[in-house]
Amino acid sequence: MKIVAVINYKGGVGKTSLTANLGAELAWRGKNVLLIDLDAQASLTFSFIQPEEWATHFIDKGSIKAWFDAYERGKPIELAKLIHTPERINQRLTGKGKLDIICSHLGLINVDLDLAVKLGGASLAQAKLNFINVHRRLAVGLQEDEFDGYDVILIDCPPNFNIVTKTAIIASNFILVPTRPDQLSTLGIDYLMRNVEKLTKDYNDYAELDQGERVEKIDPKAIGVVFTMIQEYGNQPISAQRAFMARLKRASTMPVFKHYIKRNDTLFADAPIYGIPVVLGGYENQSHQGVVSGLEGVTDDFIAAAGL
Ligand SMILES: Nc1ncnc2c1ncn2[C@@H]1O[C@H](COP(=O)(O)OP(=O)(O)OP(=O)(O)O)[C@@H](O)[C@H]1O
Ligand SMILES: [Mg+2]
Repeated sequence: MKIVAVINYKGGVGKTSLTANLGAELAWRGKNVLLIDLDAQASLTFSFIQPEEWATHFIDKGSIKAWFDAYERGKPIELAKLIHTPERINQRLTGKGKLDIICSHLGLINVDLDLAVKLGGASLAQAKLNFINVHRRLAVGLQEDEFDGYDVILIDCPPNFNIVTKTAIIASNFILVPTRPDQLSTLGIDYLMRNVEKLTKDYNDYAELDQGERVEKIDPKAIGVVFTMIQEYGNQPISAQRAFMARLKRASTMPVFKHYIKRNDTLFADAPIYGIPVVLGGYENQSHQGVVSGLEGVTDDFIAAAGL
């Protein structure tokens, strides 16, 4: 099982769309996939679940917020209890694959504040112990047996580096960074990766402290940058974007995926309304859109890089 955090500081670069569609394409190809929505905006959740359904079935006890809150109250619940299988999507999967989701909550933003209070401590040793315990919460949750059945778990992160985001990084084997091909979207990538390295180092240093319990060290790897919303002309990115993509490939310390997601306003703008990822045919009567969206090639790159 591989756990992947999908992250970029920059908002609106296509993190959620990539998470939903890469997950759907992998499931289409026969993988067992779990998506976790860790963003308080809950865009991934609402790409699969109608707001009314969420308000009825998920708002109180069915989201990742309920799981964090239960832990805070000292009455932990199993993370796996929150797994939901969206029927309409799984009906479209013709093979053996499966696509499940753990939903987010608009109030998840408060969880960051609750977790921040738990950091610090009377002594340095206590503070380090608290740091480990807060940051590895999701990693520990994902150790439940039920998660072993998944080939891949994709975590859609919010556009920030708050504590909840850090719990995703600590839990992950890989970091996947979607970006639009422009200066502002790519500016933060190396900075993000330096922060990931710093977090990893702090965590591993603190994990070495003798706490009576062995804490496993972590090693989240930068699996790659994926360009999103690429405009094509004659089957190639338009020249301004092509130049930019080449520049990032030369300058970035991270590998860059060979394939990219194409820009398609019609397909992507309407997808959430139908609750079906673009790649599975956002419109009710459309068929598999892997080639149209560019998801097919990106998924090939992902499978190769993640060793799936
Ligand atoms: N390939 C694409 N072509 C056209 N529009 C796209 C494409 N991918 C995403 N979009 C649109 O761009 C907007 C932002 O996408 P998305 O929500 O996936 O980004 P995000 O990085 O998750 O944003 P946030 O930082 O707010 O979480 C959405 O309206 C989405 O429908
Ligand atoms: Mg998003």
